[in-house]
Amino acid sequence: MELIRTREALRQWRGKAQGSIGFVPTMGALHEGHLSLVRHSLSQNDRTVVSIFVNPRQFGANEDYYRYPRMLDTDRRLLENLGVSVLFAPPEEEMYSPDDEVWMSLTRLSRLWCGSYRLGHFDGVVLVLTKLFHLVAPHRAYFGEKDFQQVRVVEKMVEELFFPIQIIRMPTVREPDGLAISSRNSYLSPRGRAQAVALYKTLQYIQTLVPKFRLTHKILEEARQYLHERFPEVKVEYLAIVDEYSLEPLEHLSQSAKPRALIAAYVEGVRLIDNIPLEVPPEEAYT
Ligand code: PAJ
Repeated sequence: MELIRTREALRQWRGKAQGSIGFVPTMGALHEGHLSLVRHSLSQNDRTVVSIFVNPRQFGANEDYYRYPRMLDTDRRLLENLGVSVLFAPPEEEMYSPDDEVWMSLTRLSRLWCGSYRLGHFDGVVLVLTKLFHLVAPHRAYFGEKDFQQVRVVEKMVEELFFPIQIIRMPTVREPDGLAISSRNSYLSPRGRAQAVALYKTLQYIQTLVPKFRLTHKILEEARQYLHERFPEVKVEYLAIVDEYSLEPLEHLSQSAKPRALIAAYVEGVRLIDNIPLEVPPEEAYT
């Protein structure tokens, strides 16, 4: 595996690389969620490029940019053992310059849900991915459904900007108790870790309510109460049932819509997110 630090060296490698290229962009502190994307890329492409770049532009002023876990040596060994061709880990000055002017935004998708609480977050994601996609020029790029809104933002950006890249979605990898694996789970104390399962438990509870109520506000009301009673220390930021394509809230469930339940919540001041697709029974099953 080559460790590449500069745009120039990456361009040179890319100019010579033969066959199909798969790309897995990450911010490092690699875990099984990331590795599932890498393994899938390895199985579908001749070469796999992984990037590790903690992108300052997608963190808000009061967010965890400075304490975000950085462990390049461990990550590098993991990727080497899997058979990755290139690890691209640029320093900040390779990606941004103080007099940069380009700002990118999606007028609607970037501003919903996470985007409405983390102002500018998706603008930073879109900007760094545009730069990375140009440099790596992959045939396929791999993203986890754990960050469902990010996947939709990336799909829309690739479609509108005519990137010749196939976006491949991968399911969320979970701990045995259901907690979605995330680099941010490492911030939690054992007590917080035990509370963190609240997100997935609430999503599962929503699924059990789906056959009982067609109106989503009834489901969400019950789910909020469940969360409040069972996990009083968990502070919900948003809980929603949305159409999985537009990410707009759904008022009622029907088999024609593809609903997804989304949650963002704070545990010990750590912001966690999760989501699941909802299975809707046929109309006649509702009483
Ligand atoms: P990061 O949080 O490091 O995640 C990199 C990729 O791993 C994303 O596509 C994310 O959805 C996926 N991922 C994380 N946890 C996962 C899990 N438990 N199961 C499946 N996939 C999981 O997302 C980012 O970095 C950044 O925003 C980035 C796209 C790299 C742009 O800076």
